[in-house]
Amino acid sequence: STIYLKDYTPPAYLVDSVALDIAIHVGFAFVSSRLTMRRNPAGADAALVLNGEDLQLESLKLDGRTLGANDFLYADDLLTIHQAPEAFLLETVVRIEPDQNTQLSGLYRSKDGYFTQCEAQGFRRITFYPDRPDVLAKFECTLHADKTAFPILLANGNPVASGSEDDNRHWATWEDPFAKPAYLFACVAAKLDVIEDHYVTSSGRRVRCAVYVEPGKLDQCDHAIAALKKSMKWDEDVFGLEMDLDHYMIVAVGDFNMGAMENKGLNIFNTKYVLARPDTATDTDYQNIDRVVAHEYFHNWTGNRVTCRDWFQLSLKEGLTVFRDQQFGMDVHSAGVTRIQEVRTLRAAQFPEDAGPMAHPIRPESYAEINNFYTATVYEKGAEVIRMIHTLIGKDAFRKGMDLYFARHDGQAVTCEDFVAAMQDASGLDLTQFKRWYSQAGTPRLVVRSRFDAATRRYTLEVEQVFAHTPYEDRMAADGLPQARGPYHLPIVLGLLDADGRELPLQLVGESNATGSQRTLQLREAQQTFIFENIDAEPVPSLLRGFSAPVVLDYPYSTADLVHLMAYDRDAVNRWEAGQRLATDILLAGVTAFQQGTGETTGWIPQDYILAMARLLGAAFVEGGGPALVAEALVLPSENVLAEQMGVVDPDAIHAARLALRRTLARELREPLLAAYFELKDEAPYSPEGAQAGKRALRNACLGYLAELNELSAQALVIGHFETAGNMTDSIAALAAVANLDIPARHALLDSFYSKWRDEALVVDKWLQVQATSRLPGTTQDVRALMAHESFDIRNPNKVYSLLRAFCAANPQHFHAADGSGYKLAADVILQLDPLNPQVASRIARTFDRWKKFDPVRQRQARAQLERIRAQENLSSDVAEVVGKALD
Ligand code: ARG
Ligand code: ZN
Repeated sequence: STIYLKDYTPPAYLVDSVALDIAIHVGFAFVSSRLTMRRNPAGADAALVLNGEDLQLESLKLDGRTLGANDFLYADDLLTIHQAPEAFLLETVVRIEPDQNTQLSGLYRSKDGYFTQCEAQGFRRITFYPDRPDVLAKFECTLHADKTAFPILLANGNPVASGSEDDNRHWATWEDPFAKPAYLFACVAAKLDVIEDHYVTSSGRRVRCAVYVEPGKLDQCDHAIAALKKSMKWDEDVFGLEMDLDHYMIVAVGDFNMGAMENKGLNIFNTKYVLARPDTATDTDYQNIDRVVAHEYFHNWTGNRVTCRDWFQLSLKEGLTVFRDQQFGMDVHSAGVTRIQEVRTLRAAQFPEDAGPMAHPIRPESYAEINNFYTATVYEKGAEVIRMIHTLIGKDAFRKGMDLYFARHDGQAVTCEDFVAAMQDASGLDLTQFKRWYSQAGTPRLVVRSRFDAATRRYTLEVEQVFAHTPYEDRMAADGLPQARGPYHLPIVLGLLDADGRELPLQLVGESNATGSQRTLQLREAQQTFIFENIDAEPVPSLLRGFSAPVVLDYPYSTADLVHLMAYDRDAVNRWEAGQRLATDILLAGVTAFQQGTGETTGWIPQDYILAMARLLGAAFVEGGGPALVAEALVLPSENVLAEQMGVVDPDAIHAARLALRRTLARELREPLLAAYFELKDEAPYSPEGAQAGKRALRNACLGYLAELNELSAQALVIGHFETAGNMTDSIAALAAVANLDIPARHALLDSFYSKWRDEALVVDKWLQVQATSRLPGTTQDVRALMAHESFDIRNPNKVYSLLRAFCAANPQHFHAADGSGYKLAADVILQLDPLNPQVASRIARTFDRWKKFDPVRQRQARAQLERIRAQENLSSDVAEVVGKALD
């Protein structure tokens, strides 16, 4: 049952207001709703149809009259009401069972109470409703529950009344002044602690900011509330956007499918993105909290005030909001490090998606299950597309475009075209061709070739765009929706470096003089040539600075070029990128060497590379932002990213080559690594802020390399690091290193960590994850054993992600074991999870995406497991879509 964008029609009926009454009892809840509805003047002359899933209908009234069996039909999750008038009041009462709701979509039970998740289509699991984002209504919600067990009652907007009832129960009514789609509805009835603060907006509105958490966790909320206030200020400063409500609440819950949810004025968060204390959370956790809090806050304008017409437009709000949280990250942390991490994520998660069976454009034309489209493509590539507009038109025109977008569309449900039109009209740049980024799947390859002519002093860059063919085109063609494909419009930000590492002034042929040393070229043609004048000697090009477009760059850099860029490029991303390219070339040579049985000699590791890495380590102490960037540069391309470079993936050879390179670097750079390790020790009290975190990142990267030395002294260093660690960043760095070592202390350290932290769920998640990603033989068996451990619960998404997704997605050597044991484990989990929580099961199923890139033996193993999953009776549409596309 595929849904198509081309089939969109406006809703037949609109909802003006919703009054909900939710009474929570032991084992069930009653939901009464009063919908003030009318026919949509712009809609089709169709019947009144409401969505409803897992609802037991108790009563149904239209304008006060109880409807009889002949007046309606409830079948296949749709309630059709025959002969509805032009305008009317529809009243329904349903019974639901939130305690049985293991899908965590709709209203569900978690340890401390009841919570909701309505995006994308959870509201229909609470009550009957036209559950689509282009139906906007004003909501009022009354909650009733036991006073002792669930003292906190929350919903969107403002509290308007509350009181007590019989049987030790209480109630509260909340009213949201803004019309919104149902996916932004939220309510909570729970026992929680709260920390409160306030923020005064630029126009003087006093906003109460509150963070609600599990009792006893108030000492882990400071960072989240500070992040919220920082976000509020940033959106005012950068985009002139203010908070529009008097109450802004964040509620943390331990059982949550995704990261967080931007419900109007009542965000619900996975605890992972709220709770932090120096001894429980890492520097990365602190940064992620900043980013996710900002992301959900920024949605208040990009998502809530202006929302999506339909779910095909998801990237309208997600791509734009990710771009906004990325800009926030660059402003509040190091810009270079932040951008490098984004590029790494895009390459690790989105490029493989674009090359695999689930490939789709940022605005897909069809889907079977919308929950499968909360993807790296819609989010991360979507953000890259917004970033390209920002680069092409410039920061000031972008701001004008945002202003115009809100002036035109505040309070509306709109499309990606509407956004691009605002950017085009505000900037005057024709973005017609640019819109191909919204409809074409696959990562384009830019083939760039250069020519230097000493006689004319001209330097020529020839650029060609090569499109990837993806299964998406085949599916579209089979559906009678063939895709016309054409070249992209994209920015190439570049500079040219001379032999001394200096930037050359750039003057294109036809220009009267040079305009700076860094330029943004606009590429529009399938083949396009750029000629620079007044160049004395052949330069080294620094292309796609800041990763200016989400493409694969094919340029024949020599080792010397890359070493030069690593040392001199003024662009932090391209300095890092040069190191990654060099390492990739070396590692691929290493893979071949291991396949030929000569890997161990390490003759494939050039001395130039080791010298460049040594220089890099030395530079850590020179400039200010140094250590964090050097830490990034020390991370070799991941096994999965290397796999994408191979025709037929050999996970064992990749693992062996990468490990050999790490060991060689550790041996050759032993002294500078040790020196850096001791020099970087920081005695200051813990702070997650950039400079200190950067030093820690580099120090722990050094430790990670030193742990590769097969020496007792190095092992003692790692154990000492663990035992003296004053924060979670250091302790988990040491534990992760120990988890890879076959030494007697391993067991004891893992045990002591667990006994210390068994009551901190998020720390136990880390403990599971370091074991799931261990390289030691027997890891697959260990993971199976951990599934039976007292700390594991398959119903808790964080546990499944930490143990199983980490194993499948971040331990390729074991997941892709030739004997099929990793695939079997994944399939067992998917089959067990599917009836409980199809969204999470589907995320695990996605780890099979690249199975066709492996050798015939592995393919046979993977296919057998995929077919076993597909054969399961009553398989969810979530898993069916992923497995079906993988097997296609
Ligand atoms: N809109 C949320 C965010 O990006 C994600 C919620 C997705 N939920 C889902 N069940 N697919 O911030
Ligand atoms: Zn979002």
